[in-house]
Amino acid sequence: MKRVALVTGANRGIGFAIVKELLIKGYKVILTARNESYGLKAVSELEEYGDVCFFKLDINDPLNVNNVLDFIISDVSRVDVLINNAGVNYDTWHSAINADLDQVKDTIDTNLFGAWRMIQALLPVMRRQNYGRIVNVSSGAGAFSEIGSGTPGYSISKAAMNVLTLKVAKELNGENILINSVCPGWVRTEMGECQLQEVLKKEQRL
Ligand SMILES: NC(=O)c1ccc[n+]([C@@H]2O[C@H](COP(=O)([O-])OP(=O)(O)OC[C@H]3O[C@@H](n4cnc5c(N)ncnc54)[C@H](OP(=O)(O)O)[C@@H]3O)[C@@H](O)[C@H]2O)c1
Repeated sequence: MKRVALVTGANRGIGFAIVKELLIKGYKVILTARNESYGLKAVSELEEYGDVCFFKLDINDPLNVNNVLDFIISDVSRVDVLINNAGVNYDTWHSAINADLDQVKDTIDTNLFGAWRMIQALLPVMRRQNYGRIVNVSSGAGAFSEIGSGTPGYSISKAAMNVLTLKVAKELNGENILINSVCPGWVRTEMGECQLQEVLKKEQRL
């Protein structure tokens, strides 16, 4: 039996790379993205590595999330791994003291509630098959031990994601479903490029 993995925000960046690695490891992968043409392009670039299909998914849209669940139940029949990778807004342009709270809310909507919505949707399938692995792609920016000034929406959304991970882990105690938060470290993606510009600015190299 082939294990099935679903990756969110996988049309580019770290999500795209995770799909490639899972395919190489022999998983069937549902590559999801909110933009259909970007998602289909990513699938066409990854098909040579294994069994990959596309599903359009904006994690902020409950209807999209229901649709992907229906697709899993009717067409794939299982989902073993959920990679909550989609994330937004490394918000270097404001700080906690003067933050635009509408922007902070948007960031939390995706980075926390989007991932949370996915967990709630897929858990019943994982419970039915008595197996599941959930990886929340978080960040050191949300680790209590590393919190500094700046990036308020991003840091707070990732800190909340880490607490969510702990809560769900406690609630799944004794079940064969494991959940973890990970920080990939700095990676040169579109988001990573924003982080690099900020570091260079701080070091007055820009
Ligand atoms: N890069 C780093 O150095 C770094 C470090 C630590 C943690 N991370 C975390 O790693 C994850 C991936 O980051 P990345 O560097 O690969 O970023 P990225 O290149 O900016 O890619 C982010 C992905 O998330 C998707 N996305 C955003 N909102 C979405 C939504 N509502 N529904 C579905 N997809 C959505 C984007 O889709 P569109 O193309 O449509 O915008 C894109 O595919 C994020 O959670 C990020 O916080 C990154």
